[in-house]
Amino acid sequence: MKKWMGWTIIILLLLGGAAYGLKESMNQRAEPLNNASGFKAPTTQGNEITYEIVAQQTQQEVAPGITLPVYTYNGSVPGQEIRVKMGQDVVVKLINKLQEPVTIHWHGYPVPNKMDGVPGLTQNAVQPGETFVYRFKASVPGTYWYHSHQSSSKQVDKGLYGALIVEESTEEERTTRDYTVLLDEMESGTSKGMGMMNSGYDIFTVNGKSGTLISPYEMKTGEKVRMRFINAGYSTHYLHFGSLAYQVIAVDGQSLQKPVAAQGKLLPVGAGERYDIEFIAPDTSIIGYDQLDHKAAAGMLIPLKNTDTDNVEVPKEYKGIFSLVDNDVETKRVSIASTAYDKTYTMELGHGMSMNGMVFTINGKTYPNIDKLGVKKGDRVKVELINNDPMNDHPMHLHGHEFQVLSKDGKSLEGKPVFKDTLLLKPGEKYEVAFVANNPGNWMFHCHQLQHAAAGMMTTVNYDGYPVSKEIDQAQNKE
Ligand code: C2O
Ligand code: CU
Repeated sequence: MKKWMGWTIIILLLLGGAAYGLKESMNQRAEPLNNASGFKAPTTQGNEITYEIVAQQTQQEVAPGITLPVYTYNGSVPGQEIRVKMGQDVVVKLINKLQEPVTIHWHGYPVPNKMDGVPGLTQNAVQPGETFVYRFKASVPGTYWYHSHQSSSKQVDKGLYGALIVEESTEEERTTRDYTVLLDEMESGTSKGMGMMNSGYDIFTVNGKSGTLISPYEMKTGEKVRMRFINAGYSTHYLHFGSLAYQVIAVDGQSLQKPVAAQGKLLPVGAGERYDIEFIAPDTSIIGYDQLDHKAAAGMLIPLKNTDTDNVEVPKEYKGIFSLVDNDVETKRVSIASTAYDKTYTMELGHGMSMNGMVFTINGKTYPNIDKLGVKKGDRVKVELINNDPMNDHPMHLHGHEFQVLSKDGKSLEGKPVFKDTLLLKPGEKYEVAFVANNPGNWMFHCHQLQHAAAGMMTTVNYDGYPVSKEIDQAQNKE
């Protein structure tokens, strides 16, 4: 098939509201990609669960007729899902078969600092042919992910990422269907554009596939379905599920006090963020998709396939955008808001030009010249985040901790604690967040549009008296 044919068909179908072609492809591809077999099962011994993850290069057909060279953890993009139970001791043996160094960072997971996977800060990069063993306890449940932190703007772009799911321990939280959905953008290399503006990204993927290659998510009328959305890309995606009566049940791995109904609303997922939704499968199939104003967005399909019926809905109208602030979101956490903080920092986000081109700045500076956030164990730290960049979303991510969102644009959220590890700031937005310094180490705090991070938008949180180990070569690229 010609490269653009599949696309044209999908776009025409969506615009025209006709779903015949998709219906057909939905019928042909019955296998959910989720938890795809073909991966080597983990081994367990007592309380310990061990995954072997091989970083390797391969080719993957990402859109009909378009096969790209990709980097993978265990042979596909996304990599093997690491799915463990609360309380297990997780062991991940990373074997590097690529020609360049890699690591694994556990995005959002409160691992000990030595296991955080940041080269030049928490470990030395894992060189070609080398092995590194990550160990941590599955101490909190929820939807997380893992990715390389070595030249991550390039390596994550090439596919070095996968899901980390820690299953709840209670029976009633399990659902009949539990799907993990990793969103990303890829470049076919055929369309030119500036990476910063994302215009070179012409293929939007769902679990590494686009358009009609995406495996439908199967369900039967009345079943309880959970979908875990993870944005492994650099753009914010606006998922549109049409009439689906869905509820948001978790944000960034944090369960909500009560599910929040979001029927008819677009679900915005910023880079690095996670949203878990739940719904009772309706008596029709629905072809959800990304409503982002971008030519490739129509290829980011979320085909919810009801295997009992031939009815298919293609979403059209929507009623607003789901928001943490306006939709009464509250995570199951105790507020850490205080009238007095031990440390207060401000991070003003912006962009500028340098001799080497576009830079992304915090307080007018680029890494490593940005002031670090010094803390000591036990501190309550407040950070004011201001997006003064008129053009760009900046999803800010803190390693090793979750922060509470205290306010947005002056509106307090303290009565309804929302904890996250990645916070999307749209142009002009201002948030206050706070975290308790309860995980000693040196931690990255950066924008998860990883090209922004590479172009300067990152800093570190450093605990007093926690030196970078002498064995670590601090000159290594931390991005
Ligand atoms: Cu997922 Cu430092 O990031
Ligand atoms: Cu950014």
